[in-house]
Amino acid sequence: MKADFQFTLNGKPQRISAEARRTLLEVLREDLDLTGTKFGCGEGQCRACTVLLDGNPVRSCQTEIAEVEGRNVETIEGLAQNGKLHPVQEAFVKEGAMQCGYCVPGMILATVALLKRNPTPNQTQIVEALNGNICRCCGYVNVFKAVQRAAQPGKEAQ
Ligand code: FES
Ligand code: FES
Repeated sequence: MKADFQFTLNGKPQRISAEARRTLLEVLREDLDLTGTKFGCGEGQCRACTVLLDGNPVRSCQTEIAEVEGRNVETIEGLAQNGKLHPVQEAFVKEGAMQCGYCVPGMILATVALLKRNPTPNQTQIVEALNGNICRCCGYVNVFKAVQRAAQPGKEAQ
């Protein structure tokens, strides 16, 4: 049975009628056409589906739509402002931190959350924060450089 849900999506109020047990990932991609959030495994194993819920990274394939009622959801589509990429997006582009790009929205959102709680992470903290975001193309080296670049925008990544 369908119910109405309201939450904030990328800074704007969102209202949707959906089955309470559908996942946030399904609703984003299928109902709202926000396909930047990726379906990887659908089983909680890859984090391609990462979005921010109240600022924290969550796996949207494991989050029922009912759980987001009244809360704040941010997806990759919400990061760029006024046609300008978010600094973390820019850092990923500058470091070429992608091959097929499928894992990148999740990596970027996990990085945004990391830098918010720790603006100057060391390498170990970066690896820990992105541990679980699986890249099937093995692009981790440039991803870690991109996170360093985003954390220190004035400096070249080492
Ligand atoms: S699609 Fe959600 S963890 Fe893989
Ligand atoms: S760039 Fe292809 S999955 Fe990461």
